[in-house]
Amino acid sequence: MKQYDFVVIGSGIAGLTFALKAAKHGSVAVITKRKGADSNTAWAQGGVACVTSDEDSFELHVRDTMEAGAGLCDEQVVRTVVTEGPARIRELVELGLQFDEREIAGHREPDLGREGGHSKRRVLHVQDVTGAEIERTLLRELARSPRVELLENHMAVDLITSGKLGFATEDRCLGVYVLDEVSTEVETIRTDRLVLATGGCGKVYLYTTNPHIATGDGVAMAWRAGATIANMEFIQFHPTCLFHAEARSFLISEAVRGEGGILRNERGEDFMAEYHPQGSLAPRDIVARAIDAEIKRSGARCVYLDITHRSEEFLRERFPHIYETCRRFGFDMAKQPIPVVPAAHYQCGGIRTDVNGTTTMPGLYAIGEVASTGLHGANRLASNSLLEGLVVAHRLAELLARQPLPPREFVLPEWEPGDVQNVDELVVIYHNWDEIRRIMWDYVGIVRTDKRLQRASARLRNLQREIREFYWNFKITVDLLELRNLATVAALIVDSALSRKESRGLHYTLDYPEAEDRHFRRDTLLSRK
Ligand code: SIN
Repeated sequence: MKQYDFVVIGSGIAGLTFALKAAKHGSVAVITKRKGADSNTAWAQGGVACVTSDEDSFELHVRDTMEAGAGLCDEQVVRTVVTEGPARIRELVELGLQFDEREIAGHREPDLGREGGHSKRRVLHVQDVTGAEIERTLLRELARSPRVELLENHMAVDLITSGKLGFATEDRCLGVYVLDEVSTEVETIRTDRLVLATGGCGKVYLYTTNPHIATGDGVAMAWRAGATIANMEFIQFHPTCLFHAEARSFLISEAVRGEGGILRNERGEDFMAEYHPQGSLAPRDIVARAIDAEIKRSGARCVYLDITHRSEEFLRERFPHIYETCRRFGFDMAKQPIPVVPAAHYQCGGIRTDVNGTTTMPGLYAIGEVASTGLHGANRLASNSLLEGLVVAHRLAELLARQPLPPREFVLPEWEPGDVQNVDELVVIYHNWDEIRRIMWDYVGIVRTDKRLQRASARLRNLQREIREFYWNFKITVDLLELRNLATVAALIVDSALSRKESRGLHYTLDYPEAEDRHFRRDTLLSRK
């Protein structure tokens, strides 16, 4: 049994920030499914929303966040994240991260990007590869920290809790079972401070802007352990994912619209003007729904993002990654509109926490996309999530540093593999995986109805039964664990959506098309206990 003072699962902005800070107070393990840099953070293009300009204010950032959140943001959490953001950004800069700047009247200042729902330019960025640069900076720092062990190619199987072990104490998290993907052995890791920073669950949908790793592992494990899960019906669909058969997950950043990009239908019309006064820069839920409606109305397979009025020189400089990727797929964004469709992008709900990352289960913490702090409410404001990851990771590290470590009194049992065989029919795993993603896309997407949700629910229950059987009878693999987690998270999304009999933020249902404040201006909370 390995033991650490802190165990972090996930290596995106929140996990790495926490690990670096916690290492000042004890030993840390960072467990990650693939390589350190394989995270949602590394794919973030837009940047970090933060008040840094004299023309902006905390009040405006708070207001924009709350407006996007459609009545479900926790104002105290919003204020904390917004006002503590600048200090966290300064720390990143001290670690060597260089956000883009521009020269104004002889002095240099941040080159701030604009995105949907923001009343001001406030998005700090490094060209269109902000997340990758943040990830590189944090990993470089981590490599210098002798107290942090980075366990790559290790996948968490399940949390170990005193309740599951039948210990006569309050139910708390005591550690985690982890599959070493190289040796294929399951290790037992003991800690009193287990931090889930596993990101989101975009892979639960057929089309997503997320990397392959985004399989909802943290929410699924926390759910099985008995922690409270909040607001899983609020899945954000990004309006502009490149439409090309071989470019399934490629995001075209909202910053392109921030720089003047216009959405057009197949007739070349600027259709967003009909849907919202802010046109193509309306909040994401509105833009995604409008595109969905246009596509359904016209029978077209996509809409188009037109930024051809900006020069090739500007586009190459500001969006080098997007420019080159589009070119690789045969589109010159300086000369022709880019074909785009909406795709699942961000999980606004997650494991219920406070603004310090504390969950409802002692010993278990959650930070980053996997957590539901109350910042995003029913719809996340673009580029608020990297900021949240930084602020909440910092607060959790500070909180835990103030608390003495409990005595390590528990010895945990080794993983019991049972009498299992190797998976003989991999096709079952791949089939179920595809089926879940298709069900979610068709029945639990941008526009929902009770009937579609009920269909999804019934099919998912069957799949979950089959997957459970597989899990108990066969030797576990990463694919099987991810499938099990996907199925759990899909069911949580459907159950949450079914319980919200209104439309709000990202949850839009034809059966109840209006918001119903009297009964539903509240979080959806699910717990196994
Ligand atoms: C984007 O660049 O459009 C994504 C930004 C975000 O999701 O916050």
